[in-house]
Amino acid sequence: MIGVVRDPEQLRQLRSELGDSFIPVTADAAATATAGQLIDAYRPAILVLNAGATPLPRPLHQHTWETFSQNWEVDVQHAFRWVREALLHPLGPGSTVITVSSGAALRGSPLSGGYAGAKAAIRFLTAYAADEAERAGLGIRFRCVLPQLTPATALGSAAVTAYAARQGADISSYLEAAGPVLTIDQVGQAITTLITDPGHDKGAYLLTAAGLAPAP
Ligand SMILES: NC(=O)c1ccc[n+]([C@@H]2O[C@H](COP(=O)([O-])OP(=O)(O)OC[C@H]3O[C@@H](n4cnc5c(N)ncnc54)[C@H](OP(=O)(O)O)[C@@H]3O)[C@@H](O)[C@H]2O)c1
Repeated sequence: MIGVVRDPEQLRQLRSELGDSFIPVTADAAATATAGQLIDAYRPAILVLNAGATPLPRPLHQHTWETFSQNWEVDVQHAFRWVREALLHPLGPGSTVITVSSGAALRGSPLSGGYAGAKAAIRFLTAYAADEAERAGLGIRFRCVLPQLTPATALGSAAVTAYAARQGADISSYLEAAGPVLTIDQVGQAITTLITDPGHDKGAYLLTAAGLAPAP
């Protein structure tokens, strides 16, 4: 297993948890050559494209173009580069590419600048890639997962804090009203299911605490 992270300290911690089978690579996943270099070097059969910038949690008019577009520069750009390389290389038949979108792609995210649109673009580009793979007979499966908002990560916690404040609610009341919380373990299990279970054959899945469901 190869992990691509920008912070070498995070990689050291992960390696001590996962052991020698984990290969840490310190790189910017959205940079020009990262996807090509790493796909050439490791020829992976599975890609999980998960990198995402934490949106600045402000209403639209308090964004600059730079803050509004950061999820396009990071999330969309890295998904585009890796998906493109997966098709060009191409990855071997039976390979799987998972992209991480968001439930926000379905309903918007008014305190997150261009986040929801960027995540919708990831769903679209995954579907486009699936079509190209099918047309070329590559045998690569493309799946897009749309997790619901969860406070289980720094990114999700910042959004929950902002949306609770906007509603004038405290965080626990906001979360209680939102229903069961999606956990990190559930996300990991769901991604494993999408990789290993051929029965999950739709292009995009909504992921909530109740599990995976085909995205509307
Ligand atoms: N948490 C939620 O509620 C939620 C809901 C729906 C979708 N998502 C999506 O799920 C994915 C994972 O997010 P998370 O909630 O787990 O938040 P997170 O803990 O902040 O994870 C995002 C990761 O992406 C990394 N990253 C950002 N830019 C990168 C780059 N250019 N190259 C390499 N790594 C980069 C970050 O590393 P650094 O520490 O170096 O920045 C961080 O480790 C994201 O795509 C996010 O949009 C999250």
